[in-house]
This record gives sequence, structure tokens and C-alpha cells, in this order.
Amino acid sequence: MKRVAILISGGGSNMVRLLESMTGDHPARPVLVLSNDPEAGGLKKAGDMGVPVAAVDHKPFGKDRATFEAKLLEHLDAAKPDILCLAGFMRILTPDFIRHFEGRMLNIHPSLLPKYKGLHTHARALEAGDSEAGCTVHEVTAELDSGRILGQARVPVVAGDTPGTLAARVLHEEHRLYPEVLRSFAEAL
Ligand code: GRF
Repeated sequence: MKRVAILISGGGSNMVRLLESMTGDHPARPVLVLSNDPEAGGLKKAGDMGVPVAAVDHKPFGKDRATFEAKLLEHLDAAKPDILCLAGFMRILTPDFIRHFEGRMLNIHPSLLPKYKGLHTHARALEAGDSEAGCTVHEVTAELDSGRILGQARVPVVAGDTPGTLAARVLHEEHRLYPEVLRSFAEAL
């Protein structure tokens, strides 16, 4: 049985779908939900679902990413995950941290990579007049939003779309795509 840890920063809607998917004959089970924000709404959701949770507030560490990440690693080393999923995790991780999990660290990004790496993806797609948008699950490497693409889902851009309406349409697909990709990834690991 593969052990999965999930990093979140907020509500954790993707995290919830991942937790819900890891049952029955699924080859993985969640061992930890970890956040950089002790107030993240997803921590309560995970706790209510019986999954161990932890938080390391990144704010006291200021620019000292290395010490913040060392604290994250204390929790992760204790949980011994085989796979690390970033799900709405909004902190940039250093290459040193990523090296710990290279080849077994996934992220979901709300664009059709390689288009629109980074933030404000929906506004940028609308600005560009794209006729479609979507989301990508990819392996995390030191270069932001640039690892091997493991799965994508496409949605149409609709006349009158705002970043909010497009985000909602894409998020719905994220909730289907991420569990699908995690299962395949865990089966192949
Ligand atoms: C989603 O748009 C996801 O693509 C991005 O973070 C946003 C919020 O995700 N990574 P969640 O609801 O916290 O899972």
C-alpha cells in the first residue's frame, strides 16, 4: 500500500477528492495532510475524515525558506510518504526540498501547461482570447510548473466568462483528473 502525503494552503477541495478516492482496491492511502497555514480550512476537513494533519506556519520564517522546509520535512519524515501531492499549495519549494521527493511528487496546476505557468492562469487565458482552458497534473521538479505532464483536462471558454466562472469550470475537472492521475501513478510506482 503506497503512503500519500498532501500539502495544502487553503480550502483543500482537491485534497478532499484525493482522500475520498483512496479507498477499497486503490493502491494508496493518505498518511498526512500538511499545511503552511494553521488556519487552512482543509485541515479541519482532513481531520474530520480521520486523516492525520499538521501545520507549519510559514510566516515566522520570513525569507528563510530552508528552515521552514526543514520543519515541513520533520512532519513528512515521520509520516514516511511514498508520494507527495501538492493540492492548492501556494508556497514555492526550493530545489533541495524537491530533491527529497523527486520522481514521486505531483502538483495540480490550473492551466494547460506548458501554457500559463505561475499565477492568475484563468485571467491570462481570457486575456489571450483562448477558446479553451483546463488543468494539468505534473511531476514537480525544481523548475516551476515544468515537470513531466501526467494528465490534462480541457474545458471550453464560454462567452462572458470571468476568471471566477472559468476557475469554477476548471476546478470541477481538477476534482476528476487529480484522483485519476494519482491512482495510475500509485499503481505504476
Ligand atoms: C485550484 O485552482 C488548484 O488548481 C490550485 O489551487 C486552487 C485551489 O485548490 N492548485 P484547492 O481547492 O485548495 O484544492
